[in-house]
Amino acid sequence: MLQIEHVTKKYKNFTALTDVNLELENGVYGLLAPNGAGKTTLMKMITTLLFPTEGQIRYNGEDIHRLDGAYREKIGYLPQDFGYYRDYTPEEYLRYIGILKGMPRQRLTESIDRVLELTGLSGEAKKKMKKFSGGMVQRVGIAQALLDSPQILVLDEPTAGLDPGERMRFRKILANLSKDRLVLISTHIVSDVEFIANHIIMIRDRRIYCNDTVENICGKLAGQVFETAIPAEALPRWEERYRVVSQRQEGENMAVRFISRMERAADWRPCQPGLEDVFLSTYQEGQGKEWNDVGN
Ligand SMILES: Nc1ncnc2c1ncn2[C@@H]1O[C@H](COP(=O)(O)OP(=O)(O)OP(=O)(O)O)[C@@H](O)[C@H]1O
Ligand SMILES: [Mg+2]
Repeated sequence: MLQIEHVTKKYKNFTALTDVNLELENGVYGLLAPNGAGKTTLMKMITTLLFPTEGQIRYNGEDIHRLDGAYREKIGYLPQDFGYYRDYTPEEYLRYIGILKGMPRQRLTESIDRVLELTGLSGEAKKKMKKFSGGMVQRVGIAQALLDSPQILVLDEPTAGLDPGERMRFRKILANLSKDRLVLISTHIVSDVEFIANHIIMIRDRRIYCNDTVENICGKLAGQVFETAIPAEALPRWEERYRVVSQRQEGENMAVRFISRMERAADWRPCQPGLEDVFLSTYQEGQGKEWNDVGN
C-alpha cells in the first residue's frame, strides 16, 4: 500500500501541489485533471524522480527513498514524454530496458514475449521503431512499463496519441492487469478512465479535490443534471446562470445539457450524471451563477 502524507511540492517559489494526502491500494486509480494541475509532478514523486518539498511517501509503512532500489524495482513507469531509440526494434528496446532493470536473461526473454503479446506488438517486434505511428510508439512505452510485472504501475497520459481502436485495446490490457497491483493512470480525457478506474482522483487548486469511486463522485450530482432545448441566442444567458456541460444544434434550437443545483423546470429532462459532467462542472470557472450562489 502506498501512503502519501502531507506532500507539498514547490518549484522554487511556485507551489505545484499542497498538502496531498492519499492512500492507494491495489486497483486502478484514474488521476484526472486539466493541463498544469500537477499530475506529472505527483507521479514523479511516486516514482522517486522528484523529492517532495514537504511530507513523505511510504510503501507498506517504509519511506520510499529509504527503500531505494527495493522500492524502485516494484515500479513500472511510462513517462509523459516517453523517449525511445528510433533505430531500435521493440524487442531490442525492451531487452535494453530489462537489462537496465537487472532482470535475469531467461525471465527477461519470457517477459518480453508476454508484454509484446499484451500490447499487440508481437508482429512488429523486429521492425525499427522509426517507422512506427505515434500510437505504436506509445504501445512500446506501455510494454516497457509492464516488463517484469511491476507491483505498481504509473502511466502518465498513456492514451495520448492513440486512436479510438487503440484506446479500446489499451482499456482491455489494463482490465487484465489490474487484478493484483496498483495502477495509477493520469489523463485529462474522462472516457479513458471512466470505465477502467475503480477510483478517480481529481486535483483542483493544487490540492486533492476528490478521491472516490466513479459511482460516489457522480452521485454528488444526482438530480442536478438536465437537458432541455433553448433558442440558440439564449445560450449565453444559460451559461451565465447554469453550468453548461454540452450543447448541440437541434433544428432551430440548441439542446443543452447543464447542471442546476436548486432550480427546476417542468420541461427539463433529468439525466443520469456521468464523470464528464463532474469533470466539466468542476473545472469550468466563471460559469453558472446559480451554482456559485448555492456554494460549492
Ligand atoms: N521543473 C519545473 N519548474 C517549474 N515549474 C514547473 C516544473 N515542472 C512543472 N512545473 C509547473 O507545475 C505545475 C504542474 O505541472 P505538471 O507538469 O505536474 O502538470 P500536469 O497536470 O502533468 O500537466 P499536463 O496535463 O500538461 O501534463 C504547472 O504549472 C507547471 O508549469
Ligand atoms: Mg503531465
